[in-house]
Amino acid sequence: MNPLAQELNRQIAAVNPHVLDMLSERGKRFYFPKGILSQSAEAKSLATKFNATIGTALEDGHAMALPSLMEELPGIDANSALLYAPSPGNPKLREAWRLKTLHDNPSLSGHPVSLPIVTNGLSHGLSLLADMFVNPGDPLIYPDMNWGNYALNFVVRSEAVPCYYKFFKNNGFNIDAFREALTKYSEGHDKVIVLLNFPNNPSGYTPTEAEGDAIANALVELAEKGVNIVAIIDDAYFGLFFDKHCMQESLFTKLAGRHERLLAVKADAATKEVYVWGLRVGFVSVAVKSAVDPWPLYEALNAKFGGAIRSVISNCSALSQRLVLHALNSPSFYRERAQKVAKMKDRAIKVKEVLSNPKYDDAWEVYPFNSGYFMCLRIKNVDSEKLRLHLLENYGVGTISVTPTDLRIAFSCLEVDQIQELFDIIYQGCKDLNAK
Ligand SMILES: Cc1ncc(COP(=O)(O)O)c(C=O)c1O
Repeated sequence: MNPLAQELNRQIAAVNPHVLDMLSERGKRFYFPKGILSQSAEAKSLATKFNATIGTALEDGHAMALPSLMEELPGIDANSALLYAPSPGNPKLREAWRLKTLHDNPSLSGHPVSLPIVTNGLSHGLSLLADMFVNPGDPLIYPDMNWGNYALNFVVRSEAVPCYYKFFKNNGFNIDAFREALTKYSEGHDKVIVLLNFPNNPSGYTPTEAEGDAIANALVELAEKGVNIVAIIDDAYFGLFFDKHCMQESLFTKLAGRHERLLAVKADAATKEVYVWGLRVGFVSVAVKSAVDPWPLYEALNAKFGGAIRSVISNCSALSQRLVLHALNSPSFYRERAQKVAKMKDRAIKVKEVLSNPKYDDAWEVYPFNSGYFMCLRIKNVDSEKLRLHLLENYGVGTISVTPTDLRIAFSCLEVDQIQELFDIIYQGCKDLNAK
């Protein structure tokens, strides 16, 4: 093992040896190289005469730039648009996201959380977490209603064993099934990965405060039994809470600093929170209870994340990071964001109103939803994939069939005045197929 990796592992174990045990074999091997990047960082401050270190092209002390490209970016200088960002991300953006997380999650104050690293969207953050924490055969505990890409990332790429539990019971989060899954799937294992995503894709459900507390307590109880837990909180749709009963802060706040064997991981992104799907800016931060100052552990983990980023994509788009930083620093950011959330809430309320009509009862049941982009229908009597194709081919209506019974509707893409007609068409589609 590279001595730099050994040193990072020592640094982690000195703060909390359980976190070292949580790392995958690959995670243990990662380190941030002291090669071109650190030599060029040194040169940045010390090479006052000539700096011939990094593989960029300069002229007149600035990034060489083609005018045909720069004319698309008025007001942005070539250096900040075109030069490489550091592998763990633009330091100013990392700090700005940390402050935004604290602003949105006031309960976090007082719990030491790592400085977020920047990822190429949340998907990339999840793949880094899989690289860092998943050994083949590790149990991955997550609900039957989940984002399909988890399977590709954790199961196909990293060979975690998928362990499901039923997401809903009696119109709420199925805490009994969650507890049972924790007990059952941790048997014979020193470590489990638990993946929680609220607002949930595809259901659009966020637990209540009480449900969130019960989830956190169940995890702490498992940690107390001596199981190491990597709890990944996928906050992709954070902030899109449309009901006063759903948790208004991330579940991460209820896990941060709770137990030495419970590593809380917040994976989030500008993608949906800042409405910048294609810019590809995400973040990963962690928190764990430790007897001593956790900062050296956080820095060591971030150095490993930096190495993992360096090894595959080297660094994330500097231009995208600059744009997101600009928005976060704007005095109108929170106001603008609130306006968009209000618009999405209007759509969710309209969906609820339309679906409260009992005329649809013979065609579907509505799963609970209170947040996010989506809601799901449990289709009765018709296969949801057949229905999806029928709607597409005969009515020009696109929906997603997530299981043979469940149809996902992204109300995030619909204007309020389109919602009634959409559900009437889906209903008509069900009737057509039933009549066949
Ligand atoms: C639950 C969930 N997590 C993560 C992502 C990925 O986000 P990104 O586009 O930032 O990779 C999505 C996107 O659809 C999602 O639904």
